[in-house]
Amino acid sequence: MTVDDGAARVMILNGPNLGRLGVREPEIYGHASMADLERAAAGWGSDRDLAVQVRQTDDESTLVGWLHEAVDTRSHVVLNPAAFTHYSYALRDAAAQVTTSGLLLVEVHLSNPASRESFRHLSVVAGIATGTIAGFGFDSYRLALDAVKNKLAA
Ligand code: DQA
Repeated sequence: MTVDDGAARVMILNGPNLGRLGVREPEIYGHASMADLERAAAGWGSDRDLAVQVRQTDDESTLVGWLHEAVDTRSHVVLNPAAFTHYSYALRDAAAQVTTSGLLLVEVHLSNPASRESFRHLSVVAGIATGTIAGFGFDSYRLALDAVKNKLAA
C-alpha cells in the first residue's frame, strides 16, 4: 500500500538496542528480528490500507529528526522509544509536536515495562502520546496499527 493509493502514512520508529531483537534477551523480547518486524509490518500495512515504514536507530538525535519528519510529511507514528522512554525529554518534546499537530502517536513496547524494574515504570512519552500498547511482543505493533486505523475511521 502506498501514499499514491491514498493510504495514510505511518512511521514505525524504534529506538536503541531494538536492532538487536532476536539476539537481545530473547526471554524478554522474543526470537524474531527487526527484519522480521519489517516484513510483518509490510503485511499489516497492506491489510489495513496504511503506507507503513519501519525504521530503527540507536541515536537520539536521529529519532528526534524522524519525529520532525513525521510532522512535516503528515505521517502518523508508532513509536517504541526503548530506553529513551524513561528519560529523554528531547524525545518527548519531539513526540509532542506530532500529537499537537493533529497526528496520532501510539507508544508501543514489546514487554510490559510496568511489570519490570522500577526505572522502567516511568514513561516521559506517555503523557503526550495518543495512547500506549505494551506487553504483547510483536503484536503490540499490530495492535497499534489497528488503533491508528480505527481512530482514522472514527
Ligand atoms: C522496551 C522496554 C524498555 O524499557 C527497554 O529499554 C527497551 C524495550 C520494550 O519494547 O519492551 O529497550 O521499549
